[in-house]
Amino acid sequence: MEKREGGIEPILGLNEAVETSRLGLQKDLDGRKTLEERRKLGQFATPTALAREIVSFGLKHIDCPDDVRFFDPAFGTWAFYSALLNLTDSRNVSAATGLEIDPLFAKAAGKLFKGFNITILKADFIQTEPFDNHNLIICNPPYVRHHLIDPDKKIPLKLKTQQISGVNLSGLAGLYCHFLLRSIQWMADGAIAGWLIPSEFMDVNYGKAVKEFLLTKTDLFRIHRFDLNDLQFEDALVSSAVVWFRKGLSNSESVDFSFGDSLAAPKVIKKINKADLRPEAKWNRLSFGPPQSRDENQNSSAPKLKDYFEVKRGIATGANDFFILEETRIHELGLPIGFFRPILPSVRFLKTLEIDSDDFGNPILPKRLFLLDCHLSEGEIQKNHPRLWQYLESGRQKVANGYLCGRRKRWYFQEQRPEVPLFAFSYMGRQTDQTKSAFRFILNNSKAIVSNSYLALYPKRNLKDCLNRNPVLKKLIWKSLNDLTPENIHPLGRVYGGGLNKVEPRELLNLSVPFLKNILPKIPISSPAPPS
Ligand SMILES: C[S@@+](CC[C@H](N)C(=O)[O-])C[C@H]1O[C@@H](n2cnc3c(N)ncnc32)[C@H](O)[C@@H]1O
Repeated sequence: MEKREGGIEPILGLNEAVETSRLGLQKDLDGRKTLEERRKLGQFATPTALAREIVSFGLKHIDCPDDVRFFDPAFGTWAFYSALLNLTDSRNVSAATGLEIDPLFAKAAGKLFKGFNITILKADFIQTEPFDNHNLIICNPPYVRHHLIDPDKKIPLKLKTQQISGVNLSGLAGLYCHFLLRSIQWMADGAIAGWLIPSEFMDVNYGKAVKEFLLTKTDLFRIHRFDLNDLQFEDALVSSAVVWFRKGLSNSESVDFSFGDSLAAPKVIKKINKADLRPEAKWNRLSFGPPQSRDENQNSSAPKLKDYFEVKRGIATGANDFFILEETRIHELGLPIGFFRPILPSVRFLKTLEIDSDDFGNPILPKRLFLLDCHLSEGEIQKNHPRLWQYLESGRQKVANGYLCGRRKRWYFQEQRPEVPLFAFSYMGRQTDQTKSAFRFILNNSKAIVSNSYLALYPKRNLKDCLNRNPVLKKLIWKSLNDLTPENIHPLGRVYGGGLNKVEPRELLNLSVPFLKNILPKIPISSPAPPS
């Protein structure tokens, strides 16, 4: 094969044929497993175009592209090696080493790349001592969440990662964090590493130690986050980022953060000073949020939601299927409706963001749900409400000993919340349109309460008084809240795999709502909470 200058132009022919065979193999092997089995080992392959984009970027950044010593600690069918063959003359690749825990994949890739200058082992990266000296690591590590890690192995795993990397990972960190931190011992000085990982590490608590590692133990130079609307992994639904760092510290004062389109030509690219990248900060917000920093936002004098509202999670029933019934079902079973409270269905069943009420305070919705909320003793129920008793008996075996129900004074008692929320906030959601928030505020004109699929917003006393005097203000407030853009709300919370955004009650309280000052000029902010 002819040697190519720069070593990053595609060589068509043989290498395309290898990639075609590899894709066939991947499909065949994936098809032999259930989704559950694949999840356990984080078996979600990197698509060809993405693998090539990442390898191409890596080749542009290593010191000697004509002497590539490549390592992939979790190779699968080896999308990255195939990409390497596609982008550089194989004679430029002086070593290519890979590990893979699954014998099925390890064997298949061994056959596919037979004859190439590679060293591949069926091995667990976590148990393998480093060998050889690599100047380029590229890896899409298994995205295995912490609760799928064997509890007996968690402590040794954590201690060993700490010994290698010098940072203390939280027990909530997924396996991919251990992979990334441990890779440092497989890197030669000056080597670079590109890690395709879920972008959530930039925002969630367990990501703090990963950020500390990147900032203090490596020369972090680039993080590219892919656009959620351009999902890279159809089958895993992971919102991904590629994190690039060099082994050895440098004097560079900033890190390039990019977003959208491709690594080579991102939609946005921004330099962030390393001094601003503290491990506890939410890096997604710092890099792609509005210009002001989170701290500035918190200190600013602009009114916050907490100045007007209490925010609580909706009710945790302990068993929605048992305690929440459709109105028709209640009648069918002959249960006394007086023991039921209206409750909103989850947001995916709502066709409207404003809930109207009938004369009884029940929501006017095609499907009306009610929560069984009876505070009588079992004796009283048995004596006076035989149908209800029969219904409770039908749940005794399955429901009564559940986590929540088993801890209650009486297993069917629900938490008492006399107040009805004015707004329900759908605190988990995916953004489907760039201009619209993943979250919605629902105006509740009924007496329905909400389950914990929502956050419930209760007006503080002086707002409540004001709304009683002037009810039309409700709609104005509601419309303004729903006019907030993703940039206003999303940075308060975090993004999980699959682009799932989530905001917790404490975070929502910090939502900046300057427009409420105009709608409610007479309300002094920071008013006391309503009596509970
Ligand atoms: C996300 S897939 C990536 C596969 C391939 N590198 C790619 O990009 O298409 C992760 C791979 O890691 C493998 N794996 C899981 N746990 C491992 C471990 N402890 N050591 C080595 N490989 C592991 C899985 O079997 C799977 O093939």
